[in-house]
Amino acid sequence: AIKSRIKTPRSIVGKLKRRGFPVTLQSMMDNLNDIGGIRVICPFIQDIDRTAELIRAIPGVQIQTEKDYIRSPKPNGYRSYHMILSMPLRFLGNSRKTVWLEVQLRTIAMDCWANIEHQLKYKQNIPNQALLVQELKRCADEITSTDLSLQTIRDLIEHHEEEPI
Ligand code: GTP
Ligand code: MG
Repeated sequence: AIKSRIKTPRSIVGKLKRRGFPVTLQSMMDNLNDIGGIRVICPFIQDIDRTAELIRAIPGVQIQTEKDYIRSPKPNGYRSYHMILSMPLRFLGNSRKTVWLEVQLRTIAMDCWANIEHQLKYKQNIPNQALLVQELKRCADEITSTDLSLQTIRDLIEHHEEEPI
């Protein structure tokens, strides 16, 4: 599954302010490089590496940074593979502009966790916040172990299909 996503004006303004940049259109174009985004949601962990490989091979697309939050998850348990890409686009009248794109590669399970965590993040007035954070982290770890098991199952099936009858 592929979902495209564009940062909302509120999140763009918030990010500029957090980083101490002026809130202007020019500043937004100069300072934020992930305004457009694509999320690629794969069934299996290995599909993520394969998709990243395919993306790296697209002609004209430059990889600016890659952040591997799968091998190095965030402390809260967030997992995804992020790639920031840039590509030159030519517009009518031959003007050129480099557009930046953030691609997030995830398994279905990682996407499920990220969506729920995102929903809960804004409910700050809940007592025992520490327990909530700890439980979310535990869910993330369980999801990781499930993702690994599902990958193993698929490997077994693929291997079986390759064998001569
Ligand atoms: P922002 O988080 O947008 O300020 O960008 P950043 O430069 O800190 O990049 P980072 O790689 O941390 O995150 C970019 C995007 O990844 C976010 O906009 C989210 O879509 C996603 N993301 C990062 N961390 C988390 C997280 O802890 N939980 C969830 N649900 N999503 C996250
Ligand atoms: Mg962040």
